[in-house]
This record gives sequence, structure tokens and C-alpha cells, in this order.
Amino acid sequence: MNLENYIRDIQDFPKPGIVFKDITPLLLSPEGRNQCLQQLVAAGAKHPIDKVVGVESRGFFFGTLVADRLQAGFVPVRKPRKLPFQTLSESYALEYGTDSLEIHADAIQPGDRVLIHDDVLATGGTAAAVCRLVERLGGEVVLCSFLMELTFLNGRQQLDNRPIHAVMTY
Ligand code: PRP
Ligand code: MG
Repeated sequence: MNLENYIRDIQDFPKPGIVFKDITPLLLSPEGRNQCLQQLVAAGAKHPIDKVVGVESRGFFFGTLVADRLQAGFVPVRKPRKLPFQTLSESYALEYGTDSLEIHADAIQPGDRVLIHDDVLATGGTAAAVCRLVERLGGEVVLCSFLMELTFLNGRQQLDNRPIHAVMTY
């Protein structure tokens, strides 16, 4: 089945006027999940990858699966004050105000080749902050990998020329 068939549009969530792309039907389906994972792994396997960085929360679902298939380490990037060890933090802009994400300082070694995974590339603020965390630790962002890219939000512009792969585009 076409992977788009596993994505459910929810009108006016989380706010009026927003059409939310709900990935839970995809997560429910072993066939859909496997098909999606194969595509993510095929894109990642074109490069040697030392670490897969998954972004809390929805980047965790497939991030660990991709890391397992690529035989790479898995690194969680988390929302503030969730990680117990020494952290680095990066802020990014929201519609109103800012938010931030954190990574463990010892999670990436200089020269590590890193695949960043998240569910959605929207405005790109989240992914750009994660790229900065990885690069501050000396890692090389080899691929930014997403389930879907919302092209009308121009998130690519935030990622400069870093390579991007999305299983689905809207
Ligand atoms: C959503 C989504 C991406 C991010 C994309 O996460 O899962 O991580 O926003 O948006 P951007 O490209 O405009 O930065 P959210 O912060 O809602 O948290 P969640 O994954 O924990 O639901
Ligand atoms: Mg998210």
C-alpha cells in the first residue's frame, strides 16, 4: 500500500486552521512500518553512519529502528531537563517564543558521521537546532532523515545545504 494511506489528516489540531499529519495509523501497521523503515534504511545505508540521532518525541519511534538496521549507535536529543548527564543545549524559534533541545556532551565523538531522524520537517527550526548540537560536538551531519517534509513551510532553507531525505512529501 502507498505509505501516504497510513497518514491521517486531523483538521484544526492542535489549533484552528492547522491540518495535523497523524502518523499513528502508520505505527499501528506492521506492514506500513516495515515499508517505511526499509525506505529510511535504504537512504541511510548510502553513507557510512556511526550514530543515529533521534529527536524527542516522535523521532524516537523510527530512530532506534533505523539505528539498529544500520548497526549504528542511537543518541536521544531531548526536551530540556530530561537528560541526566552533562548536556549541550540549543534554542530554536517557535511561533511565539523559543524552545530548546539538549544532547549528552559525550554522545557524539569528533568525526562521527551522523544521521539525524525526526518524523516531520516543518519550519525546520527543530532539525536546524539538532544539526547545531551535533556539529558543536564535532559530528558531521551526513543525512537529515524524515518521515515527511511539509515543503510549503520551507524548512529546507533552515538546513542550509545539509542532505535531506523524506519518505513522503506534502
Ligand atoms: C514536531 C515534530 C518535529 C517538529 C517539526 O515536534 O515532531 O519534531 O515539530 O517542526 P519544525 O520543523 O517547525 O521545527 P513537537 O515539538 O511538536 O514535539 P513532539 O515530537 O514531542 O510531538
Ligand atoms: Mg517532534
